Amino acid sequence: MRKKLVFLAGFLLMIGLLVTVGPARAGGWATLTVSELPAVVVAERPFTIEFTLRQHGQTAVTGFEADIVATHAASGEQLRFATAANPEAENYTATVTLPQAGEWQWEINSWGVAYPMPPLRVNEAVVGGEIMSGTAVPWQLILGWTAAVGALLCLFFWMRQQTRVRLAGVVLLSVVSLTSFALHTQVAQPVLAESEADLLPAVEPEAMGEALFVAKGCIQCHVYDRVTMAENMIQIGPNLTYVKRSPEYLQAWLTNPSAIKPETQMPNLQLSEAEIDELVAFLQRD
Ligand code: HEC
Repeated sequence: MRKKLVFLAGFLLMIGLLVTVGPARAGGWATLTVSELPAVVVAERPFTIEFTLRQHGQTAVTGFEADIVATHAASGEQLRFATAANPEAENYTATVTLPQAGEWQWEINSWGVAYPMPPLRVNEAVVGGEIMSGTAVPWQLILGWTAAVGALLCLFFWMRQQTRVRLAGVVLLSVVSLTSFALHTQVAQPVLAESEADLLPAVEPEAMGEALFVAKGCIQCHVYDRVTMAENMIQIGPNLTYVKRSPEYLQAWLTNPSAIKPETQMPNLQLSEAEIDELVAFLQRD
C-alpha cells in the first residue's frame, strides 16, 4: 500500500515537472536568424522569408514548429503564415503575402518564443491603369463641345429672329455644355503603371543596421541601447553599448568570430559583406 502511494506521488511529480518545464525550455534555447530581409514589399505580392533556428545559438535545428504572425499597424489586421522546415538546407521557409499597404509589424514564433522582427513598409499594389491614347476622347468632352456648337447656332438663329424656342435652345445647350466640361474635370485621370524603380524599400536605408541587428538575432544575445525595435532575450554576450572596437576588428569578428576566439559562444551567422558593413556602421555610430 505504502509502496503504491510512493509510486503514485512520484508519478504525479513527474507529470508536474513535464507540464511546468514545457516544450519551450525542454530543449534549452535557440536563436533565430533571417537569411535576408525583403528589399521591397508590394501589397498582394508574395515574398519568401527564410530563417535558421540555432539551438543554444550553435546547431541548426529543424524539428520544431514555427509560424509567422504579421499585424498591419494602422488597421490591426492580423495574419498567420505557416512555415516549412527544410532539413537538408537546415532552415525554414515561409511564403508571406501582405494585402494592405503601410507598416506591418511581424514576429516569428517557435519554441514557445516570439522573435520580434523589424517592421516592414509595404507599397501600394502597382496599378496598371489604361494609358490614354490620342484617339480615345472622353464622352464628357464630346458632349461639351457638341452642345457648345449647338448653343452658338441657336444664338445665331435667335439673333436673326427672336423666338422663345430659339432662346430656350441657347440656354439649355449652354447648361448642357458647361455641365459636361465640369464633369470632365471631375473624372479621375487614368493611373499609369508605376515603375518598379519608384517603389519604396521595405526598410529605410538609415534603419537597415538596426533592422539587421534584430533580424539576424544579435538582439537575442546582446543588449545594445541603440536598438528600439526589439528587446534583448537572453544576455549571453557582452552589452554592446560599451564595446568599442575598430571597424576592421568588427569586420573580422562578424565574418567569423571563432577565427578570432576559437572557444567563443558567438556563432558564425553567415552574414553577407553588405550586411556586415551595415552592422559595423550601426555599431560604430556615436
Ligand atoms: C548566440 C548568441 C550570440 C549571437 C546570436 C550574437 N552574439 Fe555577439 N557575442 C556573443 C558572445 C557570447 C560574445 C562574447 C565573445 C567572447 O568573448 O567569447 C559576443 C561578442 C560580440 C562582440 C564583441 C567582440 C569583442 O571581441 O569585443 C560583438 C561586437 C558582437 N558580439 C556583435 C554581434 C552582432 C553584431 C551579432 C549579430 C550579427 C551578434 N553579436 C550575435 C554571443 C552572440
